[in-house]
Amino acid sequence: MAKSILLNTVAVGTATAAAGLGYALLEAQAYVLRRVTVPVLPSGAQPIRILHISDLHMIPGQAKKVEWVRELASLNPDFVINTGDNFADVDALPVITKALEPLLDIPGAFVMGSNDYYGPRFKSPARYLLPDSRIKHKSEPVHLPTAAFARHMTERGWLDLSNTRAQVTLAGTVISFAGLDDPHIDLDVYPAGPDAQVPEGALELKVGVVHAPYTRALDQFHQDDRALIIAGHTHGGQLCLPGYGALVTNCDLDRKRAKGLHGWPGARPDQVGGEDSSWLYVSAGLGTAKYTPVRFACRPEATLMTLVPKG
Ligand SMILES: [Fe+2]
Repeated sequence: MAKSILLNTVAVGTATAAAGLGYALLEAQAYVLRRVTVPVLPSGAQPIRILHISDLHMIPGQAKKVEWVRELASLNPDFVINTGDNFADVDALPVITKALEPLLDIPGAFVMGSNDYYGPRFKSPARYLLPDSRIKHKSEPVHLPTAAFARHMTERGWLDLSNTRAQVTLAGTVISFAGLDDPHIDLDVYPAGPDAQVPEGALELKVGVVHAPYTRALDQFHQDDRALIIAGHTHGGQLCLPGYGALVTNCDLDRKRAKGLHGWPGARPDQVGGEDSSWLYVSAGLGTAKYTPVRFACRPEATLMTLVPKG
């Protein structure tokens, strides 16, 4: 009797785990477009629509993801920001450029993530649940075609914001960007200031862009008056518990800000106290780590951000 109860319990447990894994594999392809409104522009400015993509983690053959990303161009945003981690395979460059092709007709900017420099090497999926999943490998790193990828985007007019500043004018507002290379692999060097001079009387918005939202990077952006900070990297936790949220952020950001719109260093949407906080948007991203191709309670996303005047 006791043995049959035990066998039944094991069978039910195994079936539940298999169903959960099956669902998590499906959720990893359940792409969703988030829409957020950020009241961050100076008063009198026209709204600006920014499409934010991140963490594509492409592998050759991901036709559904390629088509979904290509379709995003039909949103006709004013600008596209790509916060890195485009690769999940050393041979992914053709499929990445195919996915991005229609978006490159729109003005845009990018920073790189660690997965634009180094190809994935196997690690236990359980490592993903550790607070910081960086791991020391004994084998040589696999170098990705980073320079060719960057050139592909800059030749189409996209701005490379790695450790640099740049400006664009969108809908009559000057956007002064400060960008960082990826803090996850210690490539971040904050760009020397100040921003280029803005014409007398012009409207301006200062924006920070980085792949991994390490607190040191967010503090630097905040101290440099960036009213809006845009990041990726966390995958929103990738495996979340309903009602609890992300278990990890894969960096030193707290798990409550693993994805979505928040304030830095404190409050915002739209806050009591901490009046000078920056807006912080962290994307849950569109992909997964190659050896952890699952998501749970954390759908893959792109974000259409509508910036509107404060107040
Ligand atoms: Fe990533």
